[in-house]
Amino acid sequence: MMPLTIALSKGRLLGPSLSLFDKIGLTPVSDRGRLLVFDSADGRCRFLLIKPVDVPTYVEQGAADIGIVGGDVLLESDRDVLCPLVLDFGTCRIVVAAPGGNTGILPGRPRRRVATKYPRIAERFFAEQRIPVEMIELGGSVELAPNAGLSDWIVDLVETGRTLVDNGLEPIAEITTTHAQLIVNRASQKIRREEIGDLIERLSKELPC
Ligand code: PRP
Repeated sequence: MMPLTIALSKGRLLGPSLSLFDKIGLTPVSDRGRLLVFDSADGRCRFLLIKPVDVPTYVEQGAADIGIVGGDVLLESDRDVLCPLVLDFGTCRIVVAAPGGNTGILPGRPRRRVATKYPRIAERFFAEQRIPVEMIELGGSVELAPNAGLSDWIVDLVETGRTLVDNGLEPIAEITTTHAQLIVNRASQKIRREEIGDLIERLSKELPC
């Protein structure tokens, strides 16, 4: 039997993800080093270490059967995957923030400029609120944009709130709260139903009720 392939998000979700699999006895065989693929000691699972934003793509396309991904990345991705389990880590808020919490429009600019690495989530929110904005898509360090004169507001992830405070920004609206989630490829769920069901059951027993 082919090992079950599990895409893990590199970065802040990796530690808690590995701990969770470790609790159910799925432990990597060796020190990871810079290797991006490794098997569990029992050979039943193969883990891929993936850039978070690419995890939904790997799972939707079937290159991985299962993935662990932040709810923020999942929302932004719009990928067609199953989401059977919400996890107890990676909890973050997605907020609109402004310098000093200022909601005013800057003189001479009819629309607020919003810098973000979540353009879909932000577009949806401002459309619902009927607030006209100009979206500026960035790859990271979004909190810099207002101070650098690139945008009026930002839409970004807040975990501890430290980055906002350190950059003189304050939340002016909360869009949503997200958690890390386990996602599953639709075809894998049918073909390997028992194996995946068993894994989900074992993982869910490790989560608080
Ligand atoms: C995320 C997010 C904020 C920061 C929030 O960035 O975009 O910048 O973390 O965390 P805090 O509330 O605990 O301060 P990330 O570290 O992923 O880096 P990036 O800005 O390069 O995307």
